[in-house]
Amino acid sequence: MKRIGILTSGGDAPGMNAAIRAVARKALHEGLEVYGINYGFAGLVAGDIFKMDLHTVGDKIQRGGTMLYSARYPEFAKEEGQLRGIEQLNKFGIEALVVIGGDGSYHGALRLTEHGYNAIGLPGTIDNDIPYTDFTIGFDTSVNTVVEAIDRLRDTAASHERTFVVEVMGRGAGDIALWAGVAGGAQDIIIPEHEFNVKAIADRLRRSRELGQKHAIIVLAEGVMHADEFAKELSAYGDFQLRATVLGHVVRGGSPTARDRVMASQMGAYAVELLLQGKGGLAVGIQNNKLVSHPMLDLFDAKHQAELSLYDLAQDLSF
Ligand code: F6P
Repeated sequence: MKRIGILTSGGDAPGMNAAIRAVARKALHEGLEVYGINYGFAGLVAGDIFKMDLHTVGDKIQRGGTMLYSARYPEFAKEEGQLRGIEQLNKFGIEALVVIGGDGSYHGALRLTEHGYNAIGLPGTIDNDIPYTDFTIGFDTSVNTVVEAIDRLRDTAASHERTFVVEVMGRGAGDIALWAGVAGGAQDIIIPEHEFNVKAIADRLRRSRELGQKHAIIVLAEGVMHADEFAKELSAYGDFQLRATVLGHVVRGGSPTARDRVMASQMGAYAVELLLQGKGGLAVGIQNNKLVSHPMLDLFDAKHQAELSLYDLAQDLSF
């Protein structure tokens, strides 16, 4: 194998650039040539491909987003799209690929592997919703961003004795809400993975007010409902001086944390090692602090589990 390609696909995540850099530098270190593919699978099909060198990935490790741009491209699920992508791989002499993205991107990667172009997947998404990895690239940064926002909201919440409902991204997963909720000292955390009862939340809020806690933060995962809707339901049970804040895409931006950079670097280098061993169709993860790889097919049948002990912890700590 002489030449590999890299692409990022799906929603961008802080740390993707650190992963791209690690793949490129490790590959160059091993004597391989590296090609960047812009705009994910859409760019692959369009032939938006360029040769990378050390300078291409210089001054990138600290930057959020993805220098290779990203796109959602469902057309790649069809054989026709895949064959057009393969035409481009052949044209550029790319024999293997690293695909950085969520599990939707892994489907494309697996199809390429089946066509004889080994592809390794790296988990790049803030949602932390990929099975067989404890953490995804971008998750730690997004949690830190939410915590910073909660800290700011708490200043104004305390000054006016208000309750803030803070809606955070995560698609169908509650991980960002859970981790940021515990780190931000939330009164309640509402996630898709755990049932909740609005009246019980109102009762707890009232009790904590009686105990002297005059403001509160409730972290709501977007997969449950909108913050306005939740605030409306809650206000039916009392006047909690509610305000709703949707953090939205703010949570996806920003310079990656050291933790995300380190993990992305480890995973990027490991992906190149796997390709050098002639492997493909594998998704890289980190479990119990060790790099692992699992067949992508196994991931499609599995479901990511949120760390629900954090939910119980938050309940125990806020009363
Ligand atoms: O998957 C990452 C994510 O940011 C989710 O948390 C969110 O639901 C979704 O992408 C938003 O997608 P888009 O950027 O296409 O609006």
